[in-house]
Amino acid sequence: MKNLQIEIEQIFKDAERIWDSQKYVDLKTLWDEDDPDPFYLAEEQADWKIGWDDLKKYWEPVPGKRMLEAIRMRFYDIKIKPLSDEYLFAVGWVRHDMKMRGPIKAWGGDARINALFRKKKEGWKFIAYAESHKTPVIYMQELYGKWLKIPLIHKITNRFLMRLYEGNIHPQFEAFHRRIMDDENKQYKVSLRRRLSFIGPILFNLFSKLRGNKVKPKAYIPGLIPCLNGRGFMEQDLNNISKSFVEESSELEGLSLDVGCAYGIASIAALKKGSKVLASDMDQAHLDILLKETPEELKDNLTTKLGTLPNIDFKNESFIAIHCSRCLHFLTPNELIETLRNMYNWIQPGGRIYLITDTCYSGPWKNYLPEFEKKLEAGDPFPGFIENVLDCLPIPRLPKGMTPHMNCLDPDTLSRECKSAGFEIITSKYFGPSRASSNYGKDHAGIIAIKQ
Ligand SMILES: C[S@@+](CC[C@H](N)C(=O)[O-])C[C@H]1O[C@@H](n2cnc3c(N)ncnc32)[C@H](O)[C@@H]1O
Repeated sequence: MKNLQIEIEQIFKDAERIWDSQKYVDLKTLWDEDDPDPFYLAEEQADWKIGWDDLKKYWEPVPGKRMLEAIRMRFYDIKIKPLSDEYLFAVGWVRHDMKMRGPIKAWGGDARINALFRKKKEGWKFIAYAESHKTPVIYMQELYGKWLKIPLIHKITNRFLMRLYEGNIHPQFEAFHRRIMDDENKQYKVSLRRRLSFIGPILFNLFSKLRGNKVKPKAYIPGLIPCLNGRGFMEQDLNNISKSFVEESSELEGLSLDVGCAYGIASIAALKKGSKVLASDMDQAHLDILLKETPEELKDNLTTKLGTLPNIDFKNESFIAIHCSRCLHFLTPNELIETLRNMYNWIQPGGRIYLITDTCYSGPWKNYLPEFEKKLEAGDPFPGFIENVLDCLPIPRLPKGMTPHMNCLDPDTLSRECKSAGFEIITSKYFGPSRASSNYGKDHAGIIAIKQ
């Protein structure tokens, strides 16, 4: 198999060499010339080239004339699947950079490829080859991610592209489409006032900030209340892991810790169930708002402590449960390892930790997914660690208080680190945003683990 891989990669290298030479007709030497119907699809072609006449015309539209000033084709990540002794299927990627003749700038791009080979006496030969783009919206988002970030431009072009898709509904789909849209419009009729309702909260938050008021901001994205310190948002609904924390900790005697609690969505829910809670956060203003919002009759069961992970410390074995939701991803890998070790010390034997983090499938971190997948495959221990968050965010500068990095975790990585801190895993899963209460989403990684 290894030799076969090398053999096929060599064919792609030969193709690169021919593209470099710009004698594209020579590409046919890599093909089975006895095959009556070669199939070929280049990413810029509107349709397949089938048969030698079409293919040769594509490689050399006007014999002896070149339309390209320069071209560089590079194939990578080739994977092979032998189908029989005679046929082999391969997939991979091609990177092209090219400059057409005339006053046109050079451009570059990546496309997926697949190819079918037939074994001949002289070796493996192409009989079919296709390049395929990602859907334009995704592709555009990726290109935009590499480009200078200009607020709004991304949203406008995205919307424009989506309009083109929306205008392309097949007539036979139209009746069905209209019916669902009618149902949806009845169900979710959104008035203009409602659509513009995000403006009020934004103005309120801006005004409070300008006046230096440390009041709880209003949610301008449904379900998410902005933190005062630039460290993301607090969810207004409890996710399933947080619900387990609330339920299970209330059945035990002792103190629970909610660290990175923000305005205390989980702390207040646990207090209401009868738990004693120590709520901790790096921002005193968050804790002050939590104290103010806690019903009077529950205040005796609430203590707060200001502190920043990984430096904050608590007495050993002082908690029966620890909840940390959507906070650990702000820590570097070493800080995370240190924090999990500390949590192991802080919790009593038999106590459980309930951890939730963002993943590379959530919000702007999706822009990092291709890198995440590459790093995961290469065995990187923290494949979701984004060194510079601005590579993913559609803004030119880091919001005040935000970390320059983001450690998006996946359930496997988080489980591995919990285990190496000494915990035993009870649950480990991906799940969606709390408001959508989706078990199919992958926005968050959640862990419940126990200290035996
Ligand atoms: C994205 S919010 C999550 C709030 C809430 N737990 C939730 O799940 O919706 C992150 C919270 O963690 C706090 N935080 C971020 N980094 C922290 C750190 N290193 N130590 C302690 N708190 C931190 C922030 O101040 C903020 O209140």
